[in-house]
Amino acid sequence: MLEEALTRIAAAQDHRALQDVRVAYLGKKGHLTERLKALGALTPDERREAGRALNELKRALEGAFDERVRALDEAVVRAQLEGERVDVTLPGVRTSAGAHHLLTQVTHKLLDVFRSLGYEVVVGPELEDDHHNFTALNFPPEHPARDTQDTFWTTDGRLLRTHTSPVQVRYMREHRPPFRVVVPGKVFRNEAVDATHEAQFHQLEALVVGERVTMADLRGAITAMATALLGSGTRTRLQPTFFPFVEPGAEFAVWWTHPKTGREEWLELGGCGMVHPNVFRAVGYEGVTGFAFGFGIERLAMVTYGVADIRDLYRGDVRVLEQFRGMA
Ligand code: PHE
Repeated sequence: MLEEALTRIAAAQDHRALQDVRVAYLGKKGHLTERLKALGALTPDERREAGRALNELKRALEGAFDERVRALDEAVVRAQLEGERVDVTLPGVRTSAGAHHLLTQVTHKLLDVFRSLGYEVVVGPELEDDHHNFTALNFPPEHPARDTQDTFWTTDGRLLRTHTSPVQVRYMREHRPPFRVVVPGKVFRNEAVDATHEAQFHQLEALVVGERVTMADLRGAITAMATALLGSGTRTRLQPTFFPFVEPGAEFAVWWTHPKTGREEWLELGGCGMVHPNVFRAVGYEGVTGFAFGFGIERLAMVTYGVADIRDLYRGDVRVLEQFRGMA
């Protein structure tokens, strides 16, 4: 009986067929059940012998059934996996990945340069007050920059910062020298918008304060930045000019080859100078010197990557933005 049963179990191709075989042997009227019932007619001695044999047979059958159940389960899973197999040779669905805005790229590049020179990156609020934006930076009360022509004032008497220099004041109030910081950020000027002027743009500000910081250090920092951006041997130039919060003050330029015209020329970048004693006084510093410089990031990005109109940087037109993917 065992042989025949095992053959039938092995031949069952699904759970239902297997169940039929199980009933045929182990069911109420199954072959094995009938034989177990027949034990009652035997003598006690015969019954012990035959009983043991039948129990062994039953165990063997149950084991065979269990194993076949597992095999059938496995076959079901295997068939399912086979059916759902991914065809890796099918062409994929292309998704368009975003990219950093050109200004973001240029800003990151600049911050990388200054981080490698040991500067800390700090930020400050875009909504400022007269004190931080002007007064603490030594702007005289009648200075034209406070004029409504240049500054966006809020109805409650505050303003949108016109430069990143107020962060100098905020940082110095909270920290003691020596330190080196750079401040990237948005600034606002109330002016007519054209191809080279936006009412909103970005600056990068640097401030270094310590016991013997000199103008040579300022020149060195600007040259290091220019070198990192434009290559070794890049020349820089400082020309005297006036900002209320530095003395002496200068505008700085780098000597470069214009990527469009191919001409070698000075590229005016921004303002710089030695921190004015009145600024140190306003934040309670004594016995230290320092330098600061600041410049517009848009201008640097535009001349470097050939953007003719500053407004293109703010239109959000992907056809424009796409051109500068992975540029800086
Ligand atoms: N804050 C000045 C500006 O916006 C630039 C500047 C920064 C000049 C630091 C000197 C020192 O034009």
